[in-house]
Formats: sequence, C-alpha cells, structure tokens
Amino acid sequence: MKFFVDTADTAEIKDLAATGLVDGVTTNPSLIKKSGRDFFEVIAEICEIVPGPVSAEVAATTLDGMLAEAARLSPIAPNVTIKVPLTWDGLKATKRLSAEGVKVNVTLCFSAAQALLAAKAGATYISPFIGRLDDIGLDGLDLISDICQIYDQYESIQTEVLVASVRSPGHVIEAAKMGAHVATLPPAVLRQLALHPLTDKGLAAFLADWEATGQKIV
Ligand code: E4P
Repeated sequence: MKFFVDTADTAEIKDLAATGLVDGVTTNPSLIKKSGRDFFEVIAEICEIVPGPVSAEVAATTLDGMLAEAARLSPIAPNVTIKVPLTWDGLKATKRLSAEGVKVNVTLCFSAAQALLAAKAGATYISPFIGRLDDIGLDGLDLISDICQIYDQYESIQTEVLVASVRSPGHVIEAAKMGAHVATLPPAVLRQLALHPLTDKGLAAFLADWEATGQKIV
C-alpha cells in the first residue's frame, strides 16, 4: 500500500518525507486555507520535497473552468495530479484530461456508483472519503470493500483506490486488507502507525538489561 500525506504543511511533509516512506501528497482547498499560503507557491514547494504524485484541487465547478485551472496547475511541476470533484463536470474533465495523459484524482466520492463512473472516465485515483461516511453513522470501510471488489472484476480498470478522510490506524489496516492501493493520511495518523506500547515497554526492558551487562557495541 502506498502512503500519501494529506496536508499542505510543508514542515510536516519535510519531516515525514525524511523517513523515505511517503509516496505522495494530497491537498484540498481547506488544507490550503489552513496553510495560510499562496496555492501555487505551496504546491511547487511540496512537489520539490516529494517526487511522487501531489494532488492540487481545482476550484472551478464547470468543465471549461476545470480545464482552464488544470492548464494553470499542471505546469507547476511534472508530479502535479489534478484533483477534481465527483460531479458530472468533474467526470467530463477527468475524461478529457486523462485522454491527454494528465493524472487525475477524483475526489469527494461517497458511493460505489460514483467510483465506477470515475474509473470509466479514466481517473488515475478515486478518493472515497471514509471518515466523513463514519461521521454520518455509515461505515466508510464498507465503501472501500465495495469499490475494491468492483474494480477487481475488470482488468481494464486501472484506477487506484486512494482511501481518503482517514481518521485512525485501524482505517489504514482494514483498507490494506481489502487491497486498497493508497491511503492518504493526516500526519498524526501516519505517525501513529509506528506506535505500540509494548514496543516502548520492550525496548525499555532490553535497554536496562543491556546497560546491566556493561558491554558496548561501538
Ligand atoms: C483527500 O484527498 C482529502 O483531502 C481528505 O482526505 C479529506 O479528509 P477530511 O474528511 O478529514 O477533511
């Protein structure tokens, strides 16, 4: 499973990218607002930090508007992925952009039917928002299971399932068991993946015993 980081905070991205475990980055208008920075400037900086796909989301809602914005965003860097909303205009834009070889991340997906349309339109990634489904009393992971099952039926579907709106390590593990290709994680969730209290307890005991031997390795 590939790990993307879901943030526009370049300090966080630098810190996490230094682990060598970050495959890409996703942003959205809310994350850009939170960064307080110029959209073009921050996307360019992220693209320099992470060589993998960096999603930059259009703000237009019409086909022509989305294509015009994509034409401004794509030249920022070769690793920019254009993010479009799952609307009819977004699907039309996906079809047009993917035919031109532009990578497209179709966002705000909340149903398997939407995911099927995005694949048919040639999306590089489909982003089902699982946390937001959980928030309204549904099970977001059921949607990941449905989409993975559907996509697996057709060799022609190359669209990758990019699990979004992730809230916990449990979301990541369950989605990985289903074969989802990518998870985009808030920095705190990515950090949590490495943690276990028994690791800390075990390490403390080993270090104490090692100290007691009086030996040194170097
Ligand atoms: C995905 O690309 C989105 O940026 C993100 O995962 C949305 O997550 P949220 O529901 O926590 O805002």
